[in-house]
Amino acid sequence: PVPLRALAAGTGVRIGTAVDMAALADDTTYRRTTAREFNSVTAENVMKWESVEPSRGTYDWQPADDLVRSARAHGQAVRGHTLVWHSQLPGWLTTGVADGSIGATELRGILRNHITTEVKRYKGRIYQWDVVNEVFEEDGSLRNSIWLQQLGPSYIEDAFRWAHAADPKAKLFLNDYNVEGINAKSTAYYDLAKRLRSKGVPVQGFGIQGHLAIQYGFPGQVAENLARFEKLGMQTAFTEVDVRMILPVDEEKLATQATYFRGLLDACVQARRCTSFTVWGFSDKYSWVPGVFDGQGAATLMNEEFARKPAFAAVGEGL
Ligand code: XIL
Repeated sequence: PVPLRALAAGTGVRIGTAVDMAALADDTTYRRTTAREFNSVTAENVMKWESVEPSRGTYDWQPADDLVRSARAHGQAVRGHTLVWHSQLPGWLTTGVADGSIGATELRGILRNHITTEVKRYKGRIYQWDVVNEVFEEDGSLRNSIWLQQLGPSYIEDAFRWAHAADPKAKLFLNDYNVEGINAKSTAYYDLAKRLRSKGVPVQGFGIQGHLAIQYGFPGQVAENLARFEKLGMQTAFTEVDVRMILPVDEEKLATQATYFRGLLDACVQARRCTSFTVWGFSDKYSWVPGVFDGQGAATLMNEEFARKPAFAAVGEGL
């Protein structure tokens, strides 16, 4: 079969995957499939703050450097994920904020330093950065994170300005889940993007994670949602697509899953400025889903033995 990346070549859409660095090192089938099928990669974990700065001032860039090097060797673009998030923060940071030993002024400096250091390290080698991740609640209010509590809402525009200063050519993205269609949360992003862009803040992309579940139905108005961001002059991307189901797997669920992957892909291919379609892992062997969603799984394009599911073929046909 023709590799997905070859099928994607003419579409203007990169086909990407999240990469698990342990699997890349240990599993030959995983490594070969990553190289063969995808022309964009995202670090599943190793660019997150807890990974790169496990203790204060002590950095571990090794696994992230390995990913960037592997990507270059295989002609893959790299999405950077992620600079500002409420989750997977290092313990020294959350503890310091909780016990009051890190106050607001110091925290702002720490955040600025984190963004500047990481973005500069990979300057010119990352085409898109998820600058802020998951900053809104479902109802469209700002998430009550340490960033909002300590720094107020301006931390968002600060983050984009600092990232832009560190690598002016990288496209800078907002990123979240449950924002595929038009709803309160995606509208909060739309309003934020519009306001920031009118103030000249360098925010250039809207990232839609795309973590779907067949039991919840396919989101409405996906094309319309992409179109409204693109009308602001922004790029769009699907950044973490997977489609989980309640186990056990059966043929009907796999068929439904295939239509969900295809539905998001079609919206991307048909949009004017949708730059990439990234799956959050391509084999159930390494998917994050069963560990987080009780009784659910089988969310990726291949099963645990790397056999292609109907969704794999559907993505190939959509490219
Ligand atoms: C997940 C990883 O897949 C897991 O390995 C990790 O334990 C937790 O984070 N939204 C995101 C991703 O933006 O970073 C998350 O990745 C999945 C949800």
